[in-house]
Amino acid sequence: MELQDKIVLVTGGGSGIGLAIAVKAKSKGAKVIICGRNEDKLKTSGEKFDLTYYRCDVSKESDVLSLFDKLKSEFGDLDVLINNAGFGYFSMMDEFDAEKFLAVYETNVLGAALMAREAAKIFKEKNNGTIINVGSTAALKGFVGGSAYSATKFALRGLSECWRAELRKFNVRVMQVNPSEVQTQFFETAASDSRDFNPTKLIAEDIAHAVISAIEMNDRGFTTEFTVFATNPQ
Ligand SMILES: NC(=O)c1ccc[n+]([C@@H]2O[C@H](COP(=O)([O-])OP(=O)(O)OC[C@H]3O[C@@H](n4cnc5c(N)ncnc54)[C@H](OP(=O)(O)O)[C@@H]3O)[C@@H](O)[C@H]2O)c1
Repeated sequence: MELQDKIVLVTGGGSGIGLAIAVKAKSKGAKVIICGRNEDKLKTSGEKFDLTYYRCDVSKESDVLSLFDKLKSEFGDLDVLINNAGFGYFSMMDEFDAEKFLAVYETNVLGAALMAREAAKIFKEKNNGTIINVGSTAALKGFVGGSAYSATKFALRGLSECWRAELRKFNVRVMQVNPSEVQTQFFETAASDSRDFNPTKLIAEDIAHAVISAIEMNDRGFTTEFTVFATNPQ
């Protein structure tokens, strides 16, 4: 798909990986909409990079429905959904907090599914579209303290497979990208863990490059899933 004049919606696009994908799509000539919960963050990023921004908590069905209403009235169409909104919650398996466990599920799994449900209605009708789910290497392998987060990303991988099976005959490409550690606000949000910048580790723009390259492949084909690692992290 050539991104020129295409309409691309990026959830969690106010920061990190989502913002990098949004900026890269914009540089290819796409009309890009970002969404998130924090309006100040969205406004700052939206104004800085000339992106349309809508406030939307993807875990809330009413927010998702009003986002799609706005999208339809302002843009009238959608070509690409990037399901990127997500966060982590780390805890040992015998210590987790049930509310925090559910909250991460509501965003990373239900939120992605609500967004995809509404996007799929548009894509099926026009017989074209692309959905990219931002998973994680935590979708492929568990780790100490990762129960809640890893369970959500394994679940997202299951959703990717089901959606692919349902939507392929409508020419809808469903792909999942699994980044390993990327230097964003993620670890600060998940574990109040601020790490020094390390030039040998991945940055958000590396994931954006991989995602945009996958989208730009001719629509006759697609990469189902890809994992991105740092080459030689020190
Ligand atoms: N960084 C990593 O090492 C890494 C590795 C693998 C996968 N990932 C995945 O990459 C994605 C992006 O994370 P990131 O690293 O870029 O971290 P980030 O900078 O913290 O970005 C996460 C974004 O998601 C938004 N968000 C969270 N909950 C939301 C909700 N309910 N509704 C709408 N937006 C929501 C946040 O904005 P608001 O707070 O304004 O809502 C924020 O802009 C996540 O799915 C994460 O699991 C990250």
